[in-house]
Amino acid sequence: MTDSLFSPLSLRETEVSNRIMVSPMCQYSSTDGFANDWHLVHLGSRAVGGAGIVMTEATAVSPEGRISPNDLGIWSDEHADALERITSFVKSMDSIPAIQLAHAGRKGSKSRPWDGSDPVFPEDGGWNPIAPSDVPWPYESDAPELHELTTEEVGDVVDDFRAAAERALDAGFEIAEVHAAHGYLLHEFLSPVTNHRDDEYGGSFENRTRIVREVTEAVREVWPDDKPVFVRISATDWLDDRDSWDLEQSVQLSADLADLGVDLVDVSAGGLHPDQEIPSTGPGYQVPYAELIREETGVRVGAVGGIRTARHADEIVRNGRADLAIVGREHLRDPYFALHAAGDLGVDAAWPPQYQRAVPRR
Ligand code: FNR
Repeated sequence: MTDSLFSPLSLRETEVSNRIMVSPMCQYSSTDGFANDWHLVHLGSRAVGGAGIVMTEATAVSPEGRISPNDLGIWSDEHADALERITSFVKSMDSIPAIQLAHAGRKGSKSRPWDGSDPVFPEDGGWNPIAPSDVPWPYESDAPELHELTTEEVGDVVDDFRAAAERALDAGFEIAEVHAAHGYLLHEFLSPVTNHRDDEYGGSFENRTRIVREVTEAVREVWPDDKPVFVRISATDWLDDRDSWDLEQSVQLSADLADLGVDLVDVSAGGLHPDQEIPSTGPGYQVPYAELIREETGVRVGAVGGIRTARHADEIVRNGRADLAIVGREHLRDPYFALHAAGDLGVDAAWPPQYQRAVPRR
């Protein structure tokens, strides 16, 4: 039978009730990396709204892994404790709590978007961002100096991801996603634009992808066999005018990740460099990348980018383009996107009993 948007999805022993995931979206609303009432209400509402999976924003594995000083983090047990009531509430709504484990790399230490996204210096609460090579983001203003990781320090980053995954498990998350997209640390290693290293983490495809494989292995090692691991990648840098990360390498990496026990590749794109040329930002603009990776490797994929309607999301799943429709901004506009989608598609959906009197009539 053809799968549709409201077909359940089995990932190891995790049963997801539908194919809709809340895309990870930074809220820039933490102090010292801690989850607070905002995160509970924000993520909790989307669980009430019927999404099969509710993914946290990029959650930093170390303090300098944050994009802004206001990012969420999971670098101590106390951070995990603060997340526990969120996972517990999300589960009580029959949704699956997922966490995106992240390191911002060279794109770290800047102010939040509504404060200008400007570099923040260590004396103002920022830090010296780490990167594979001394290739700074081309800011127009001064920015704190980058620290190029030594080979040994790359191992520390892998350890930080492992420890963060262990804490995420303690906090009650069911799915761990490794963030290797959007020009953040792991993507910076993948792309020859930002990786000029001459040790075993730079140069060949095998070397540039090594840290992503090591992080994935570390997370997979501590994440139970019955629970899924995802990896988000940028399928392309959208920098075809130079030696960069492209779709062909993404297909190869996805196959390697599947071999390491990754259950789903979350296929995004870009974010590495401001010169990127995005061919289109229309509906489903990144879906063809997900579709190709699925076709070439057989790995499950999530498609993200410009998915705004129930019919579009349903079409993506029905036509085998992706296994999961990942919805970002539309979920900010409508926390009840999944429940509304069910109504649009004529599927019975369980609105919470508290809202029964308001269930839209078909
Ligand atoms: C994002 N995005 C994003 N991606 C990610 O992998 N981790 C993150 O923390 C964030 N943060 C974030 C914040 C906000 C406010 C937005 C709008 C976006 C990207 C997001 O997950 C998604 O990939 C894109 O928004 C494209 O999907 P939509 O919005 O077109 O459905």
